[in-house]
Amino acid sequence: MEQIVAENVTKHYYVSPENGGRLDEKLLVLSGVSFSVEENEFVSILGPSGCGKSTLLRLLAGLDREYEGSIRVNGTDLKEKRVPVCYMLQKDHLMPWRTLMENVLLPAEIEGADLKKEAELVRPMLKDFGLEEFENYRPHALSGGMRQRAALLRTYRMRGDIMLLDEPFGALDEITRMQMQDWLLEVWGRHRKTVLFVTHNIDEAILLSDRVLVMSPRPGSIVKDIRVGFPRPRSRDMLLSSQFLGYKGEILASLG
Ligand SMILES: Nc1ncnc2c1ncn2[C@@H]1O[C@H](COP(=O)(O)OP(=O)(O)OP(=O)(O)O)[C@@H](O)[C@H]1O
Ligand SMILES: [Mg+2]
Repeated sequence: MEQIVAENVTKHYYVSPENGGRLDEKLLVLSGVSFSVEENEFVSILGPSGCGKSTLLRLLAGLDREYEGSIRVNGTDLKEKRVPVCYMLQKDHLMPWRTLMENVLLPAEIEGADLKKEAELVRPMLKDFGLEEFENYRPHALSGGMRQRAALLRTYRMRGDIMLLDEPFGALDEITRMQMQDWLLEVWGRHRKTVLFVTHNIDEAILLSDRVLVMSPRPGSIVKDIRVGFPRPRSRDMLLSSQFLGYKGEILASLG
């Protein structure tokens, strides 16, 4: 079933005078973006810096309704009603004064849920997320990869069956990033949700995804929709295959 359907989405910002804009000056960021995503699909969005990837995720999260065109999630038009999704911003945004567990419990706390019950549900997941024994640590005492996993766990515990992840591994070194990719593949295999994953990294996009959407430079539109035919579970050996290079070549060509 198609879970997300974006049709002809066009978005501009008004550039305020404080950002050097003239009165009513507009910046066109997205132009005619159309795509759809099926339930439980893992779809990456790849595109140059500034092409509107984070803007697109904000629209999909229902946080901004100022756009032309339409976005429907589970059949609901986002201009009419918000649909709860699990959304992770480009930075991890853990609160430094809260422990790991208290950070993970934040969405439940905002919703007024029973925190004791939620903690009992979260505790067995700490192992899956490689955070066992660290539940009482504060973010400064965690490694970069652990902070990222804590933010992912918090995102995962948000209400909704769609995860919007904005460059979750962007700030990590290459080795940690590889470990996190393997880990995400494994966790996603077991706790399926629909995933929209924004990245700059071509190898990462191919390795993780069922489909890769390539965006043009700003104003962003989808210039290529590539289906990645590797079977799952995925393994890193696939990175060395000629099929992989074929996908990579196709993506590089469409990035211009
Ligand atoms: N609130 C805003 N007001 C005006 N312009 C904005 C605003 N937010 C973003 N922009 C502009 O929109 C464009 C797209 O920004 P966006 O953050 O969506 O890009 P991105 O593809 O996520 O880039 P990156 O890969 O660097 O994260 C940029 O030119 C940016 O300056
Ligand atoms: Mg961004």
